[in-house]
Amino acid sequence: MITTRTGPRPCDEALALVRQRVRSTLAQVAGRGIFPHAAPSATGEWGGTREGNWTSGFWVGLLWHEAALSGDTQDADVATAWTLRLAPHVHRKTHDIGFVFASSAVLGAEIGGVAACRDLALRAADALAGMFHPTAGVIPIGSQAEIGAGLDDVTIDCMVNLPLLWWAWRATGEERYLRVAQSHAGRTAQWHVKPDGRIIQSVHFDPETGHPVREETHQGSGTQGCWTRGQAWGVYGFASAYRATNEPRFLEVAVRTADYYFDRAGTDLVPFYCFDDPAIPDVPRDSSAAAITAAGLLILAEHAPEAAARSRCLARADVLLSAIATGYLTPEREGDPRPHGMLLHSCYNRKAGWDTDHEIVWGNYFLMEALRARARLR
Ligand code: GLY
Repeated sequence: MITTRTGPRPCDEALALVRQRVRSTLAQVAGRGIFPHAAPSATGEWGGTREGNWTSGFWVGLLWHEAALSGDTQDADVATAWTLRLAPHVHRKTHDIGFVFASSAVLGAEIGGVAACRDLALRAADALAGMFHPTAGVIPIGSQAEIGAGLDDVTIDCMVNLPLLWWAWRATGEERYLRVAQSHAGRTAQWHVKPDGRIIQSVHFDPETGHPVREETHQGSGTQGCWTRGQAWGVYGFASAYRATNEPRFLEVAVRTADYYFDRAGTDLVPFYCFDDPAIPDVPRDSSAAAITAAGLLILAEHAPEAAARSRCLARADVLLSAIATGYLTPEREGDPRPHGMLLHSCYNRKAGWDTDHEIVWGNYFLMEALRARARLR
């Protein structure tokens, strides 16, 4: 429970609400056949597409988490069917295939034990590893039309694509997956993370020499603003890298980047979309950044070697979960027309004007993951 240390609403209650939201989302989207992507905070009406996009694995992952919690084989069958619909994404030339399949097919293999999901996840891992740039030692974004970036650009987001490779290494014992992921994580720590823990979203490199040449932000303010979800991707990504490898350098970076998040997030702890926008407080918040950070801290709360570090990470995760549960989840309240358990006020891309005050499916996914991890740590 998070009540004693951090707030009025128990973790169990938040988890129950998030589970209700999975059910109400399924009821909304199943007939339309769309992968839910984002819903306005005011209405909770999901938008999405039939073919899906980089966020679609997170929806499928929510279905797998729900199947694990219910233990109902029909739920697992539903999750399997949605997972296999993602197969065409294996052919997309973008690092996003890590997001898509680590959150879906890997869970189908691990939670459901479904052989077709395992095969799909391994094909995706091969495709992701195949994007490795050996001179630079990184996986670039690829050709992602959405943000107009390309083959010489690495973003912090990719740290959360690596879990597909960490998993493939464990599942097969093949070290080629480990080598790619280790190299990418090491370079990202060098290129993207400043001594104070601040994270740079994007680093361009010279494809000939492999050296970094320019830093920028795609989704933070201006050209250099510190994008809070990027900070969160870093915390989660380095925590996952530590869990996979036990390498102290990744633990150190995960802790340093989390420290930076807490230094800058303000008293609410659910941050604005960027730490540096001069228009704060008149800018959107991004509750998904808080959910991702909480999930990353809970990895450290389970796996950090020192008891003191584990307790500190647990306490920090608790305050984030409490802030989300008390201020950002739609409650079961008479007269509130919104679906229960919506994670309100996430922001996809303020600069582009995309989904700036929405429930966005990856936020729900990381909140579910965090709440389940918190329940294990009782
Ligand atoms: N491109 C990943 C994100 O918007 O967080």
